[in-house]
This record gives sequence, structure tokens and C-alpha cells, in this order.
Amino acid sequence: MEIKLNLKKPDERIKSQLTPKDKLPFGKLRTDHMFVCDYTDGSWNNASIIPYSDFSIPPGAIVLHYAQAIFEGAKAFMHPDNEIYTFRIDKNAERMNISADCLCMPEMPVDFQIKAIHTLIDVDRLWFPIQEGASLYIRPFMFSFDDSLGVHPGSKYKYAVILSPSGPYYPDGFSKPIKLLITKKFHRATPGGTGYAKAAGNYAASLKAGEFAKKFGANQVLYLDTTNTYIEEAGAMNHYHITSDGTVVIPEFTDTILKSITSQSIIELAGDLGLNVVQKRIKIDEFIEDVKSGKIVEAGGFGTAAVISPVGTYVFEDGSSIDVGNGQIGPISKKIYEYYTGLQYGKIKDSRGWLKKVEKMHV
Ligand code: PLP
Ligand code: COI
Repeated sequence: MEIKLNLKKPDERIKSQLTPKDKLPFGKLRTDHMFVCDYTDGSWNNASIIPYSDFSIPPGAIVLHYAQAIFEGAKAFMHPDNEIYTFRIDKNAERMNISADCLCMPEMPVDFQIKAIHTLIDVDRLWFPIQEGASLYIRPFMFSFDDSLGVHPGSKYKYAVILSPSGPYYPDGFSKPIKLLITKKFHRATPGGTGYAKAAGNYAASLKAGEFAKKFGANQVLYLDTTNTYIEEAGAMNHYHITSDGTVVIPEFTDTILKSITSQSIIELAGDLGLNVVQKRIKIDEFIEDVKSGKIVEAGGFGTAAVISPVGTYVFEDGSSIDVGNGQIGPISKKIYEYYTGLQYGKIKDSRGWLKKVEKMHV
């Protein structure tokens, strides 16, 4: 399918917004254009890049009532050769289709998703943030817009991609460890449900837990499984911990945990890093004991937006808290962060073909 281009002149906001004195926020800025494509009569049509603008959908659109919507989160990086590269974008496109299947939505061929994303980045390449530690956040998403109040899958869908020149997800970036609330009060996902997909509804369901966490000074909840026995993940990242023998432990992927591309990458990079990385089910009681006894020395979260976010402290509803190690960023988390971001920003050679250059075709 061809992509039609309907382009505007570069917006004069570019210069002022990309060179602020403060760090760029996460997810707030937009570029000039977006990619859109409609699924009607059983096929994808009208693929185009158009100026960033509002959608017009009927008030009865299925997405507004029953949340038939999915999304992805990926990033592009500027390398020392001044070229822009997407990172493992094929994995995001594949997961988009896994989420589509989970919510009875049509798949979009992986190669076409990549073509759409690369063309959009090429068109808006002037928007690339030049600040240290910044990247271009890529947000593909899909929703049904049939005007129908019966609970059933739609027959009309929009797939779109927007871009956001962004700074770190947590305002202090890697420089300050985060806090997680351990609670049995909220659960992110149930077995047999949509936890393994990037379904919009999962995030709507996590908002109350997120606000609850804030009351305890925590950034997010560390979710447990529905039996309150095992660690699952946080609201926007997988969880990891590191034992005193240097082993990195990530909870085993189940249908209630999102299969993080960052976690999978760290597992694949274990050899390069000289680390032992394992996945297993982790009992919360044992985890807390091991943090207290010093058997667990570091912990944190893995995610595209979160990158590697070390946790300094776990807090509990009774107001008590425990520090991991000395509550600061540990040396192994730092090593993983530096290697992973070194690879993403092109300072370390990519021997796996994870970085894909955005060819200059339109600008
Ligand atoms: N878990 C959840 C619930 C997420 O939303 C994300 C973010 O995408 C992750 C984990 C991390 O996944 P990834 O590394 O693929 O971004
Ligand atoms: C990501 O890490 O890209 C995510 O999608 C998480 C989030 C901002 C919801």
C-alpha cells in the first residue's frame, strides 16, 4: 500500500520547544504530522501522513464505550553519525498484532507498520530532540470507531502513529531512584484477561492504583498476582531485582504480565554484560525478606519509557518502608543502563540488527 503525503510547512514551534532550559517532558510535545490508516470493508485503506489534527468519530464509537483500543511505545535515537535510528521497532509491530488479536482487532502487517513509522519520522525529522538523554517517542495506536452500542468487536478501525520528542519518563531520569508501593489492594490484570496486551483499558484500570501510590510518596504500585503471592510488574514497566551474587531476576512472563521488549533485550544482552539473567516466579514474602537481609542488593524496572529505573525504596500501606541496598542506584543497574543506552544511542556497536536507520526520502 502506498502512503499518501499531505504535508505542511515545518511549524515554527520547533526551535523554541526543542531547546528549553529545562529537561524535555515525557510525552507532552507533538511533531507536525501523524500517520493514519482506516480499516473498512475488511481491509486497510487510505494510508496517509497528514498534519497532526483532531479525529472526528461518532459519539457511539465502540472505543468510547467499551475501550476497544490498543497501543505501542517505541523510541528512535540520534546517533553520532547524525542519523536517526529506531530501536527494535519490529518487536513493537509484532506485539501490536498480539494486542490486536487479544482485543479481536485486525492485524496490520509488520513491514507496513515499520514503513509507516519510518516515513513519519523522516517527514518530521526536524523535530528530533537534541537534548542530552532525549529521544523521539513513537506511539502507534488503534481503535474501533463503529457507531454501535452492542458489545461486540467493531468492523471499522483506525490505526495511527504520533510522535513525541521526549525527555525521561520519571522527571529525575536515571539520576534518582524511584519508590514503589507494595499493596494487596489493587491488581493490574487477571488470568485469562488482557494483561499480556497493551490494551488501553489496562491503563484506565491502573489509574486509581497510581493515585493511591502517590499518597505514599511512591511513583507506582508494584503489582502482585491475584492470589497476592507473586510479584508481577509495575504499571508501566517490568520489575527486576539483583541478588548479592550478581544475578538479575525478572518475573517469568505470564498472561498477566506484559512481555517487555526491554526485559527481553536485557536477557539477550546478558552475555555482553557478563551477567546471569534469569526469569522465575518470585514470592513477595521471600522478596521482602531478602531485601531486608541484604540478599537482594538492587532492584528496579525495565521499559521503553522507563528505560532502566532503579528502585531505592519499597513502601507499604502502614507507612513503613524498606530500602534496597543503601537506597541508592547500584553498580549493576548502572552498568545495564550505560550499556543499554550506549547501544540505543549508537555509542556501542549493534551487532544484532536492532537499530534501523530512518532513510532520508522526503526532507
Ligand atoms: N509493562 C507494562 C505494563 C508496560 O506498559 C510497559 C511499557 O511498554 C512495559 C512493561 C515495558 O515494556 P517495553 O519494554 O516493551 O516497553
Ligand atoms: C512505554 O514504555 O512505552 C509505555 O508504553 C509505558 C507507558 C508510558 C504507558
